[in-house]
Amino acid sequence: MNKPPLSFLEIINLSTEFLRKKGVPSPKCDVEWIVSFITKKKRVELYLEFENPVDLEYQNQIREFVIKRGKRIPLQHILGKVNFAGVELYCDNRALIPRPETEYLTELINERIGKKLSGKFLDLGTGSGAILITLCKTNKLWDGIGLDKSSDAIDLANQNASFHKLKNVHFKKFDWDNQKLENVYDIIVSNPPYLSIEEWKDAESEVRLYDPKIALVSTGGTTDLIKIIEHAKTNLRKDGIIALETGLGHKNTLIPKMENHFYNIEVIKDFSNRERFIIARKK
Ligand SMILES: C[S@@+](CC[C@H](N)C(=O)[O-])C[C@H]1O[C@@H](n2cnc3c(N)ncnc32)[C@H](O)[C@@H]1O
Repeated sequence: MNKPPLSFLEIINLSTEFLRKKGVPSPKCDVEWIVSFITKKKRVELYLEFENPVDLEYQNQIREFVIKRGKRIPLQHILGKVNFAGVELYCDNRALIPRPETEYLTELINERIGKKLSGKFLDLGTGSGAILITLCKTNKLWDGIGLDKSSDAIDLANQNASFHKLKNVHFKKFDWDNQKLENVYDIIVSNPPYLSIEEWKDAESEVRLYDPKIALVSTGGTTDLIKIIEHAKTNLRKDGIIALETGLGHKNTLIPKMENHFYNIEVIKDFSNRERFIIARKK
């Protein structure tokens, strides 16, 4: 006799237990995202109909995704999408999975843009294009350019911009180690690589195995941040904004390099109360 199909709650509980045993950091949350993605229901709806049976076809797809997650493939790569600051983006191993801390960076920039209707944004190390696409979607008259050394990242960023039908963003290959910027910008934002090799070795397997290493590791942690600051000294207009995501303790190295060229230097904490962002204005 065929077994009756499992209910939403049974699937959530069994899959959560499976992922917990595999050491996945937030197993229940990941299972909810998978079930919600496959069944095309909102996460809250899963609990409103927790006793209902789940179609066998859906059950098989859910099992396949949960097994992948058990192998520590990042959820965002399994789903192929990520929600970044309310914006849906394609996500795969061509670029870094955009992080929640970086969503907060876009909020901080939006607060500082205020009522300024137009200008030029530069996103250095744009990856999936997450920061630039989010900012240019809300600020439609701003002109955005995202630069990255990785051609794979540029491909993904272009795919994301086309998906959102954005006409005001462009992406281009660029290496800040060997090239000069061509324009002067109103805002330069960057979330560059800022982990030391030791920090990278200590990271979760999802990070080490699936995020591109070029997106994460910088010699001593601060080498790339210093390069970005140097570019901003020549290519940010007077009173323009530089906004950086940084690693822990980096302000002690970075602020002395900024003081002669920037004012209103703010160090801002992330949601875990760690000093994560430096935002300043050009003198
Ligand atoms: C931490 S990721 C940030 C990606 C994206 N901005 C985000 O916040 O999700 C850093 C990015 O910098 C790029 N990058 C690393 N070295 C670079 C260089 N020398 N010139 C230009 N881009 C570089 C990497 O390819 C990667 O996409």
